[in-house]
Amino acid sequence: MKNFYEVSTTAFTKLVPARAILDSMKTAVVIVQNAVRLLGVTLIVLGFLFWSGNAFSLIPLHMRLGETLVALLWILAILGIRAKAPAGLIAAAIFWGLVVVGFGMNMGGLLPGRAHEVIRVAHFLFGLGAIGLSESLSARIKRAVTPQS
Ligand code: HEM
Repeated sequence: MKNFYEVSTTAFTKLVPARAILDSMKTAVVIVQNAVRLLGVTLIVLGFLFWSGNAFSLIPLHMRLGETLVALLWILAILGIRAKAPAGLIAAAIFWGLVVVGFGMNMGGLLPGRAHEVIRVAHFLFGLGAIGLSESLSARIKRAVTPQS
């Protein structure tokens, strides 16, 4: 039978690392979420420059930034697995990231001519969807790791 000191130190050493892990998870989510927001705004600004016929030389930069955003979305999905976020949301984030990158890399050759506008709108909406999923996942993870009072 453990005495009070043994019980409390065991509880303490178990509790403190757990709390520290949850706090660092929350910090990581806040950093990743804000990085996605910053990248999202940059991508949209660059995208509208392309849409208006400008800055085509920045398309490769736009593509690398878009891939980075998707990588961050997948990092959120991994953190979501640890925080036991809904499986559907995690699966959607992984799948959606693949769609955004796959579509973005191949959209140039899809529906040439005036119909290409449909592809552009679809690409824009896919990108917004990725940002929305990042927001949903971040909110879920932060809720899961914040102690309820
Ligand atoms: C994830 C967030 C993203 C957002 C919000 C976003 C947004 C936009 C917008 C608004 C445009 C201009 C309209 C259009 O052509 O659709 C655009 C163009 C473009 N995006 Fe993205 N994008 C994202 C990710 C990506 C990724 C991951 C790639 C490729 C790896 C990519 C490749 C392109 C290309 C090649 C264009 C120029 C298409 C053209 O002018 O025909 N984008 N993007």
